[in-house]
Amino acid sequence: MLVEWLTSLVTPCDPAVRRLGYLRELIAIQARHRRCAPAWAAHIAACRHFIDQRAPGGDLAVVVGAGLCLDVPLDLLVARYRRVVRFDLCFLGRRVGVEQRVFDVTGGVQTWARDPQADPRAALTDPGWPADLPSPDLVLSANLLTQLHLFPEQWLRPHHPGVDLAEACTRLHLGWLARRPGVRLLIADREEQVIDAAGRLVYRMPTTARLLPPPRESWTWDLAPRGEHDPDHALRRQVGAWDQNSFESFL
Ligand SMILES: C[S@@+](CC[C@H](N)C(=O)[O-])C[C@H]1O[C@@H](n2cnc3c(N)ncnc32)[C@H](O)[C@@H]1O
Repeated sequence: MLVEWLTSLVTPCDPAVRRLGYLRELIAIQARHRRCAPAWAAHIAACRHFIDQRAPGGDLAVVVGAGLCLDVPLDLLVARYRRVVRFDLCFLGRRVGVEQRVFDVTGGVQTWARDPQADPRAALTDPGWPADLPSPDLVLSANLLTQLHLFPEQWLRPHHPGVDLAEACTRLHLGWLARRPGVRLLIADREEQVIDAAGRLVYRMPTTARLLPPPRESWTWDLAPRGEHDPDHALRRQVGAWDQNSFESFL
């Protein structure tokens, strides 16, 4: 806990991003990965394999919602693309050969932080493309899509009980991805599952990625083995991976 608190203290981060909890969560993901690395290994390998098969190389690769890039083979991208840029709201450290820039794919974080009383949906804005970046050859959205609404909703709930931004965020992000040129890859969890001590599936909750056409590939992510989140239950996710030809029919 002390290490996490100190990391938060010394990491540069926009105040709005910090206020909504994104930095705290990034630090928590790092700690969870340390504890759950063996359980996450197959998911991380599947993500990296999917990207390896579909990232042919070129001038510019962009990873959105890059986070810690656990699920992204950054070395491979650096070897195949002349420029690799990570987009996220905050970062923990730097990677050699990889640029990073603060980029909000919902366009709403600053407005939500500043004016939580305002209509939450009105803040959602297509963020477009940075004027100083050329067109990308690859845009990769890895395990971001179904997370977009979570922190804004938590922040806005005191002012808007029942606020639900999940589908609006999903449509906005997929539309943004669809309008980019080049190869677009999307990895997202389609269902969350709770497993009891006997290995029985006791609860399942589809995510907005369930609205998408069937993925090119799918696999299971053992997100929280028993004891991590709850002493009696494990959490699992069913993950899908799409390319532009398999998700654009949704729009
Ligand atoms: C679950 S993590 C993705 C995992 C990541 N690919 C990894 O391996 O660490 C989701 C990431 O999306 C970022 N994120 C959430 N909302 C975002 C937004 N509106 N714009 C850009 N990034 C966002 C978070 O900061 C976080 O790093």
